[in-house]
Amino acid sequence: MHPSESIVNILSIESSCDDTSAAVVQNGMPLSNIVFSQKIHEQYGGIVPEVASRDHQLKMVPVVERALAEASINFSQLHAIAFTRGPGLLGSLIVGTSFAKGLALSLDLPLIEVNHMQAHILAHFAEQPHPKFPFLCLTVSGGHTQIVNVTDHLDFELIGQTIDDAAGEAFDKSGKILGLGYPAGPKIDEIAQKGQPIFKFPEPQIAGFNFSFSGVKTAILYFIQKQLKEDPAFIHKNIENLCASIQHIIVKILINKFRKAIQQTGVKHIAIAGGVSANSSLRTALKKLGTEMNCSVHIPKFEYCTDNAAMIGVAGYYKFLKGEFASHNIEPLARYAL
Ligand code: KG4
Ligand code: ZN
Repeated sequence: MHPSESIVNILSIESSCDDTSAAVVQNGMPLSNIVFSQKIHEQYGGIVPEVASRDHQLKMVPVVERALAEASINFSQLHAIAFTRGPGLLGSLIVGTSFAKGLALSLDLPLIEVNHMQAHILAHFAEQPHPKFPFLCLTVSGGHTQIVNVTDHLDFELIGQTIDDAAGEAFDKSGKILGLGYPAGPKIDEIAQKGQPIFKFPEPQIAGFNFSFSGVKTAILYFIQKQLKEDPAFIHKNIENLCASIQHIIVKILINKFRKAIQQTGVKHIAIAGGVSANSSLRTALKKLGTEMNCSVHIPKFEYCTDNAAMIGVAGYYKFLKGEFASHNIEPLARYAL
């Protein structure tokens, strides 16, 4: 198969954290995108790495079979296998990497390694209209918060990032204080719809385009501890306003820093990516920011926000076009710079 031939089918595998996912992507557009989100971690209040890798092993084959069946594609119609090399949990990455290597070897197909954070951004190319270059992407997930200047499909310039916690972590840790379980981001989003941001938390003043969320988390913790001393039912009575206030400060920090980056770079196209881009308040705030800054705005469909293999297949497609294939002795990377 030569990149110039008209149809390119890529089977992609994602297993970097707690989602086992497989997709078939044809010429950069997903035909299927199967995601099995591990629920087993809820009882522990956070992801247990060893449990995650074991669950990936159990679910990988059925998830891949479904991705192929839903796309009506069989092994003989595939042109490459793409997989998440990192960043992520090493044990989880090993499962996806080993599976992808084994399959590529047995089908005699090229192997494509994908950086998970690049893939979150490239998820925008799974939908029309594609963002124009250069665009500025705010990537917000459970482990990362980045502002990236994207000048081409595979050209990324990191211009800002968190110096401590990620935005998703800020949601999850605040939610833990409120007793909302893991992951708390979607729950805070839902409960916040019924509340008002009446509790005020300070916005950190960090230089340049970097972020910090650990101070906010501590301010929320101390505030709640103080209130609980006066009224043990404080959380219960104020849960809606508390969620709205936490969401408000996190979104405010993200949007204010992103505005600064847009102003200083002069980029006219903006986007969000990663799990936290599913947040309804952030999505609304980004649209407003686009209007204010006269920029075109790109917000992914919900299924392309949180971890999924379609984005790995899209990224894989652009690497395929450039002939960027991996060798069979490639190893996963827990840390993998953008
Ligand atoms: O991108 P992702 O699925 O996994 C990582 O690569 O980390 O992001 C997961 C993060 C979690 O912190 C989760 O709480 C957060 O995304 N998240 C949300 C929402 N949906 C997922 N945070 C706020 N509001 C949401 N609706
Ligand atoms: Zn992710």
